[in-house]
Amino acid sequence: MNAALSDDSDRPIGVFDSGMGGLTVLSALMARLPHEDMLYLGDTARLPYGTKSRRTVARYALQAAEKLVSMRVKALVIACNTATAAALDEVRAAWPQLSVLGVVEPGAAAACAATRNNRIAVIATESTIRGGAYQRAIQAIRPDSSVIGQSCSLFVPLAEEGWMDGPIVEAVAKRYLEPLFMSGASGGQSGAADGQPDAPNKPDIPQPDCLVLGCTHFPTLTATIAKVLGDLSVGQVTIVDSAATTAQAVKNKLRELDLLNRQSQPGQARFMTTDDEARFARIGSLFLGRQLEAGQVELVNL
Ligand code: DGL
Repeated sequence: MNAALSDDSDRPIGVFDSGMGGLTVLSALMARLPHEDMLYLGDTARLPYGTKSRRTVARYALQAAEKLVSMRVKALVIACNTATAAALDEVRAAWPQLSVLGVVEPGAAAACAATRNNRIAVIATESTIRGGAYQRAIQAIRPDSSVIGQSCSLFVPLAEEGWMDGPIVEAVAKRYLEPLFMSGASGGQSGAADGQPDAPNKPDIPQPDCLVLGCTHFPTLTATIAKVLGDLSVGQVTIVDSAATTAQAVKNKLRELDLLNRQSQPGQARFMTTDDEARFARIGSLFLGRQLEAGQVELVNL
């Protein structure tokens, strides 16, 4: 459908998520690729994706991708783990000549680089955990690793509400994290329902030493997650997410295709949402770490 040709380097990069979470990836992209123009689409009208069926998420993801492809992007970043897990292959199949990158493989790579004891905990949406995409991606890189997953659905609305710390967020984080790091939480490929560990308690098995934030909303909660891990006295745990590794993967791909933007001025970012521009600007500023005005955000229909 849309061919990214080698003289198309001045086209923007398209980035989408169910809501604001992908802004954590956009932020890393802007830092790593400062001369690229970006189009960001947050499908806030239909958030959350993480509690919906794979079919529904795939349909939404194809619609979001279609919108960005119609705006002549040169590459597409699915800045949503849930949509990546549900629809990366379908989006790639729909636009075979376009570079489409997801966030699960880069997140898995970051985890494999960080772990020392090969025991990795993944927190993500219900859909991502249920589908086992992280478990597969990590074990494709490190077949001897053990992966334990926990869905943390409540983190998404908390983050979208702009609640990133405080006693309520800490209580929710404790409820989700405690089972993962209880002595002897062992690995497996299964997923867990909210608040229930998916592993038997085996005291001889070491705790995970790496926690993957497998949802792009979760990096906004990193400080709270780190505090709760400290309170639980779980020892040294490296918290990783896929933003930086995804940005590097996008840069590598554009360089390989000779599609890096040659402009000398800083790239521009354009923001679109499927619901309430003012809210997107207000909460999006927290995710992006810089002020967004409602006038910079456009309302679109998918
Ligand atoms: N930010 C998305 C992710 O990375 C999903 C949040 C949601 O819509 O449930 O999984």
